[in-house]
Amino acid sequence: MQLPLKIFLATVVLSLALFFFVIYDSMAGNNLQNVPSEAVKGKMVFQKRACIECHTVFGNGGYYGGDLTKAYEKFGSNGLREYLTQPPLLSGAKKKRHIYLSNEEAEEITAYFRFLQSIPNMDWPPRPVYDKKEEPGVK
Ligand code: HEC
Repeated sequence: MQLPLKIFLATVVLSLALFFFVIYDSMAGNNLQNVPSEAVKGKMVFQKRACIECHTVFGNGGYYGGDLTKAYEKFGSNGLREYLTQPPLLSGAKKKRHIYLSNEEAEEITAYFRFLQSIPNMDWPPRPVYDKKEEPGVK
């Protein structure tokens, strides 16, 4: 066998080995065993009730209702339960209330938000980096 062919084959084998290692490693780290079962149920409620149509989580979803990645930090368990089981009028609306959940659904979705809180995401979503008053033309 000629040397260039040997180098080529060695590179192919090494690349394949690296590829399979990276795939294996990423799958081993992503198993669902560490996710509390309540949080999994909450995620199902989140999907069933289509919260994603209006809300983002980690930046994915609709932009109508704001990002919910830190909803648990903002409201806590009691606040979330109250918001979702006795929803307020949407701001600017005279009659339209926020979507309503049963107590059970609210508990499960709270567990989901609590779990989201535990995912290290480097403080995402970012806070505004400037003060509105400093922006030219805005008072
Ligand atoms: C039809 C669109 C829509 C859907 C669907 C929807 N929301 Fe909302 N949500 C909103 C809007 C709009 C607001 C902001 C309320 C306001 O401005 O008065 C909001 C606010 C919230 C807030 C308070 C956020 C904050 O930071 O003040 C939470 C928590 C929330 N929604 C959770 C949920 C959950 C959980 C679901 C799914 C069960 C859901 N929403 C489905 C539109 C929606």
